Amino acid sequence: MNISVIGTGYIGSVTGACLAEMGHTIVFVGRDTKKLDIIRAGRSPIFEPGLDTLLTKNRDRIETTTDLVSAVEKTELTFICVGTPPNKDGSSDLSQIREVSQTLGKALKSNNRFPTIVTKSTVLPGTIEGVIIPILEKESGKKAGTGFGIASNPEFLKEGTAVEDFFHTDRVVIGVSDGKTKDLLENLYRPLNVPIFTTTLRTSEMIKFASNAFLATKISFANEIGNLCRELGIDSYEVFEGVGLDTRINPKFFRSGLGFGGSCFPKDVNALIAHAKSRGITPRILNSVIATNDDQPRRMVALLKTHINPRGRTIGVLGLAFKPDTDDIRESRAIPVIRMLLEEGASVKVYDPVAMANFKKICPDLTYAGSASELLDSDAVLIVTEWDEFNRLDYTGKLVIDGRRLPKARKEAAVYEGLCW
Ligand code: UDX
Repeated sequence: MNISVIGTGYIGSVTGACLAEMGHTIVFVGRDTKKLDIIRAGRSPIFEPGLDTLLTKNRDRIETTTDLVSAVEKTELTFICVGTPPNKDGSSDLSQIREVSQTLGKALKSNNRFPTIVTKSTVLPGTIEGVIIPILEKESGKKAGTGFGIASNPEFLKEGTAVEDFFHTDRVVIGVSDGKTKDLLENLYRPLNVPIFTTTLRTSEMIKFASNAFLATKISFANEIGNLCRELGIDSYEVFEGVGLDTRINPKFFRSGLGFGGSCFPKDVNALIAHAKSRGITPRILNSVIATNDDQPRRMVALLKTHINPRGRTIGVLGLAFKPDTDDIRESRAIPVIRMLLEEGASVKVYDPVAMANFKKICPDLTYAGSASELLDSDAVLIVTEWDEFNRLDYTGKLVIDGRRLPKARKEAAVYEGLCW
């Protein structure tokens, strides 16, 4: 099939590359010509294991353009993968969605086939029916479901394992309102041989938010129980190993510690909170999920202070990415930890295998170490991201506050404090 993908961020580049690997011809549409050039050269515009390989291997089936209208003209299916960043009040900024919908609507006007528009961007329930369809219909003069197809197809990929997640997802979720679009998308995903859950547009949109909110809840729950376990001298990892054996619960996403960051959990939970409030519903659980998450970095710094006064001391921070195997620092727990250390008067030395360049853009004045081992001569070491290479360092004689439970640090450090164990 000929498919256009609008947006070259995480969702767009992974979706396009993986669909190309499935044998489809892909047109990437973007505004950033540098990124498009990188894709055209068969390389990945983002740091994501396995993505380079797919883009190189399928180069012959991949085109790039800045011209959305021409891309839609030559493709049957168009995926909207643009960003929906948070506004100050937590709600989603839909300006890119609106802009793309307007251009798409114009492109649909002269298109006499039955082009199908699929929203992969994370949008709150009701956005496709309340925002996207009205714009498309107004600009094209056509009706959704008869003049063009419309669908929701939320993405559940995790950064760092996105390619693997695409091909081995637990489920594909499709929201549709007409039979033709339903068949088209179900056929597209059938070769993956994974469960396909087809439902209405707004239910599909809600599945994405409920999934992310539940996973974030699981982490904050593990952290709350973990904080208590620590006080009681109990190992929360052992507790959740035992809890997770209950198949109704399952053991995943119970890793307690510094809490969640990234481009999805904080943003999506806050967007759901703002949405609930706007409908007169008090989201008590979701408010607590965020509050618990916000408190973990403070607990880390408080633990450090039980051993040394950070003022005038050099504190080493291992890890800046919001999780390993990515250079993404969005909402990384390193940000509040470092902010609090600076407020305490510490001199902060940091290291991350791939995220330092991104971090320098927001915090240029820190000391950036040349290697992880170089950072170990700090007065204390805080483990913020569990990169594999941090588990090969020699922690003998060190004071370590661990937010991610690195086995080697736990075994070797002279003074070791685990955040939730
Ligand atoms: C998440 C969802 O997992 C994915 O389905 C959705 O599409 C996008 O958001 P991602 O943000 O890439 O993916 O990473 P994920 O592995 O889920 O981790 C998110 C954050 O939670 C990280 O900061 C991680 O360190 C933290 N986390 C995760 C924990 O603190 N404990 C856990 O047990 C799991």
